Amino acid sequence: MKGIILAAGAGTRLYPVSMPISKVLLPVYDKPMVYYPLSNLMMGGIRDILVITNEEDDPKFRKLLGDGSQFGVHIDYLIQYVPKGISDAFIIAEEWIDGDDVALVLGDNIFCGPEMQSLIRSAIEENEGATVFGYRVDDPERFGVVEFDADMNAVSIEEKPNKPKSNYAVVGLYFYGGKACGLAKTLVPSDRGELEITDLNIKYMEEGRLKVKLLGDDVRWLDAGTFDSLLEAGNFIKDVQTRTVKNVGCPEEIALKNGFVTKEEVIERISKFKDNSYQIYVKGICGIDTLKTEQSKNGIL
Ligand code: G1P
Repeated sequence: MKGIILAAGAGTRLYPVSMPISKVLLPVYDKPMVYYPLSNLMMGGIRDILVITNEEDDPKFRKLLGDGSQFGVHIDYLIQYVPKGISDAFIIAEEWIDGDDVALVLGDNIFCGPEMQSLIRSAIEENEGATVFGYRVDDPERFGVVEFDADMNAVSIEEKPNKPKSNYAVVGLYFYGGKACGLAKTLVPSDRGELEITDLNIKYMEEGRLKVKLLGDDVRWLDAGTFDSLLEAGNFIKDVQTRTVKNVGCPEEIALKNGFVTKEEVIERISKFKDNSYQIYVKGICGIDTLKTEQSKNGIL
């Protein structure tokens, strides 16, 4: 399966903060926001990754992520020139996808929880048509909303409905079989002028091939696209990392765990960073105890 990170939005809800830079490059505590969705794709074992950006931000994403080799993945880039909606990603990327199965993750969606890796892996392994994740929320009218039967087949899905039929928001991480591009081309723009991801999902639902998986209580989902949710996401990640002494959304760690890179490769890359908590963490997972190294350098040990 291939993976797409959609990071093309203008981020107007975060103006003036996101005027000079894509919101997906803004920090969520100790790393750029895009590290989180990138990590989610890598957790699923996905190594062929496409980042879709707007024209202005394209060089900045390339500067940060390069060709992906530092994480043992391959990253390509394409531009969405006109903000035509999420499903437009499948039209832009048709040639790149080349008939393969594909996961799509929205650049501002952050997932955190020990179950995430197995949820993503099972979605990839079990997907036949399309698979979406549902997350229980109190304000479903802000999102795509899915209703499902006992076999977890979607029975209705609506974009930002006034009267939601369930409390389950469809989060911004989707899995599709090879037909997604063809179906995306049959969509018509919604009232807000966008090719809606919900309309693509409806196509799969009409064929009886839209499966729903639920994100359980131990998973936290944040859409970091507003001032409050951006701050909340940063505070949440800091809190989790302090409490568990484990990093969330660290591509170096996932690359190492998945055998995409060697410790030596990670150490070489990370040595270019100044001493900071991110570097110390990554050195730690490579078996370098920075504190002991410093102490022995200073003759303390
Ligand atoms: C988009 C999708 C919506 C989904 C949400 C998740 O909303 O259209 O179905 O629930 O992402 O973040 P938007 O960001 O366009 O408001």
